[in-house]
Amino acid sequence: MPDTKILVTGACGQIGTLLSTTLQERYGFDNVIASDIRSSATFSCIYEQLDVTDANKLFYLISKYQITQIYHLAAILSAKGEANPIFTWNINMNGLLNVLEAAKNYKLEKVFYPSTIAVFGNQTPRVGTPQWPNLTPETVYGISKVAGENWCNYYFQKFDVDVRSLRYPGIISWDTLPGGGTTDYAVEIFHEAIKRQSYTSYIAEHTALPMMYMPDAIRATLELMDTAKENVKVRTSYNVGAMTFNPAELSEEIKKHIPDFVIEYEPDFRQEIAASWPESINDTDARTDWGWKESYGLADMCQDIIHNLTQNNNQ
Ligand SMILES: NC(=O)c1ccc[n+]([C@@H]2O[C@H](COP(=O)([O-])OP(=O)(O)OC[C@H]3O[C@@H](n4cnc5c(N)ncnc54)[C@H](O)[C@@H]3O)[C@@H](O)[C@H]2O)c1
Repeated sequence: MPDTKILVTGACGQIGTLLSTTLQERYGFDNVIASDIRSSATFSCIYEQLDVTDANKLFYLISKYQITQIYHLAAILSAKGEANPIFTWNINMNGLLNVLEAAKNYKLEKVFYPSTIAVFGNQTPRVGTPQWPNLTPETVYGISKVAGENWCNYYFQKFDVDVRSLRYPGIISWDTLPGGGTTDYAVEIFHEAIKRQSYTSYIAEHTALPMMYMPDAIRATLELMDTAKENVKVRTSYNVGAMTFNPAELSEEIKKHIPDFVIEYEPDFRQEIAASWPESINDTDARTDWGWKESYGLADMCQDIIHNLTQNNNQ
């Protein structure tokens, strides 16, 4: 694939760090340009500082590197977004519109846009949440992603911009830290379990949420992007699932590896956000249209994370 040149926005984040590395391995170091609003980063590929609200800089970078695809990850996430709703709307919306305009004007081959389970709200069935329910989210982040999904569909229908999207569940990683989402507890808990054998959860004991281990999230992204255009039938965003658990169930699984581990509960404002999100996702469309299937469930994810974190701490 010699002509593919990829720009990743928000590359310094929890997903962008690993996605950029995977894309470099696949397409070659010179063919992936990592970018973020942060002034510097430790990528082995080319790195450019880019604020996604700066359309001129975005267009300049597309011309400079002859970009053919954008993975547009830059966003302000659910919990952080509530502290400054208008700021969040501006970054999440204007960033996406700049990317979609660029894709139209520079005739980019493909764009990836991550959506989220935060698009669902209290009007949505919480168990087996369907692909096409009422989308009335409770957070500014969710509102921006619903609007974003619809803009993606609009640019596909009107301008044939081949933009593809997944509604990621909570993404769990051990080697990159999350940046202010509601599901961050499921990453923090592992670090605290290994450091202190205890964790205080801001999500209530029995509030279950859909989650996915990072290797599955990266693979889902690449598989969707590899799918033949005519088979990508959902042009807003695909539901995609892997596992579902609550903090008590996660804690029980961690105890199998760290028997002294104890969990306490002090729910905060994020509990209200979590309570408005699905418990589990119906992702039949993703499974039918492009063959989605997860590799990790709760037990094998926990084993892998604890093994990796323990090894890392011992080095
Ligand atoms: N992590 C999850 O659990 C999850 C779940 C659902 C959807 N998503 C989506 O996936 C994408 C990546 O999420 P993440 O977890 O890596 O987020 P993150 O918060 O870890 O990273 C986001 C990155 O965007 C950068 N950024 C913020 N404002 C910017 C701007 N104006 N211009 C350029 N960069 C800017 C930040 O510096 C950060 O490095 C987001 O769009 C998010 O909505 C993530």
